[in-house]
Amino acid sequence: MDILLALKTNAVSVVMTVLVMLLLWKIRGKQSSFGRLPPGPPPNPLLGNLFQFNIKEPYKYYLEVSKKYGSVVTIWLANTPVVIISGFGALKETMIGLGEEFSGRSNYPLIMKATLGYGVVSTSGHRWKEMRKFSLMTLKNFGMGRRSIEERVREEAEYLVEMIKKFEGSAFSPADMLSNTVANVICSIVFGHRFEFEDPQFKFLLQTVNAYFSIINSPLGQIYNVFPKLVSLFPGKHHQLFKDLEEAREYYKREAQARMNNVDPSCPQDFIEAFVLKMKEEKDKPDTEYNFDNLVSSVWNLFSAGTETTSSTVRQSLLLMMKHPDVQERVQREIDEVVGQDRWPSTEDRQRLPYTDAVIHEVQRSMDLTPIAVPHKTMCDTKYNGYVIPKGTVVFPLLSSVLIDPKLWKNPNCFDPENFLDEDGRFKKNDAFVVFGMGKRVCLGEALARTELFLFFTSLLQHFTFKAMVPPEELDTTPANCSFGRMPRSYECYAIPRM
Ligand code: HEM
Repeated sequence: MDILLALKTNAVSVVMTVLVMLLLWKIRGKQSSFGRLPPGPPPNPLLGNLFQFNIKEPYKYYLEVSKKYGSVVTIWLANTPVVIISGFGALKETMIGLGEEFSGRSNYPLIMKATLGYGVVSTSGHRWKEMRKFSLMTLKNFGMGRRSIEERVREEAEYLVEMIKKFEGSAFSPADMLSNTVANVICSIVFGHRFEFEDPQFKFLLQTVNAYFSIINSPLGQIYNVFPKLVSLFPGKHHQLFKDLEEAREYYKREAQARMNNVDPSCPQDFIEAFVLKMKEEKDKPDTEYNFDNLVSSVWNLFSAGTETTSSTVRQSLLLMMKHPDVQERVQREIDEVVGQDRWPSTEDRQRLPYTDAVIHEVQRSMDLTPIAVPHKTMCDTKYNGYVIPKGTVVFPLLSSVLIDPKLWKNPNCFDPENFLDEDGRFKKNDAFVVFGMGKRVCLGEALARTELFLFFTSLLQHFTFKAMVPPEELDTTPANCSFGRMPRSYECYAIPRM
């Protein structure tokens, strides 16, 4: 028995040693085949630079290494090289000047799991171009930034204000309400109608988006993105998420199938109808991209990219108003003078609300929601700054480096609306406001997001004064989580009615 056990143990040790040697050999081979990559911190042969940073806020390490090694740096996440590009100049030269070369999307395992490689966010090349063009065009036809979208957003702003009024100045937590409100704008675009917040289908869709974001933003999500197969072997909340994602895909597909025979070709009512029409139009083209897989993933992209981002920004804007009551008061004075109390704000008011506009921009700049945007990849071997970045290399555009650069902002390290105002108090545009990304992959929902942020923020401050449960000086406005996005805190507050 003992001999058998010893033999078995030895066999396991030999297999393990061979596996480790194979892995090391593979990694060394990979590292030397990337010989002309930009410099960076020396990697550990097995784990790269993984243990050199805090997985809860990796962007801080990216800023650090960029300071030390320059505007193009290579780090290794296990055996995958990642090129970090930082600084406004280098980001303009790469994301815009070499836009086509840097337009690919890296195969981020969690994003791939949700989209199966279809839709807009996770795709590259021909499929991405086709899906991006369609999504942009369709959202524009529904009035992205024009009146009809504005009406949908305003409708939700009115519901939101009515809901908050019901608290009559007592304490409440705005997080879920804001998520529901923003998700309903997407529902109105995608399905052609809003939902009651208590609707079980709506609750399920939103809960799936929230769970997805919470995992993407957790250390578990970061580890999954580096070792997807390994993490899949372990129990955890990701398994439930994957089941829910599948169910959500089925729901979108059923919605599309239901419209297949009922859509009016002269007047599609929503995003799904417009897509279904395109599917019918191209049904005889063998290489068409208009199929159920791309439809379902494009719809998921609108929900996943358009809900948490915008609602978190509104949440942070209220937190900052409670922290800076003087700023809140000045915004309210401006709204009172220009809009008054007898009508709802509209996007046409923006030009006449320069201080309010500056405050919204400064909320976004200072919160720096997506420090590395969404990772890109190079579409071909690309020469930049004397280096050769091979085709398929993962690229992190370090937007943070631009948003906190003291050469580009009056006061980059704290919340200061003066960053967007000139000496005469007029709104001052700054090209370094890169919160929506840069170049060909710039956020597809930017116009919608700007409309939502403006209308929700102004409607809320027109109707309420927001007060914290603790004195302003004790309020913590730093993010709750920075694993992927810099997600703001949840909190309870008072909304004191103003009329
Ligand atoms: C405050 C709100 C928002 C912020 C800060 C934001 C930011 C971003 C950023 C940084 C990117 C990545 C850019 C890159 O890859 O370089 C992105 C991509 C994207 N966003 Fe947004 N976003 C917001 C709202 C929205 C909304 C409302 C929608 C849609 C309804 C949306 C849809 C998308 C899509 C589909 C992409 C992928 C584009 C592509 O891969 O070509 N986003 N967004």
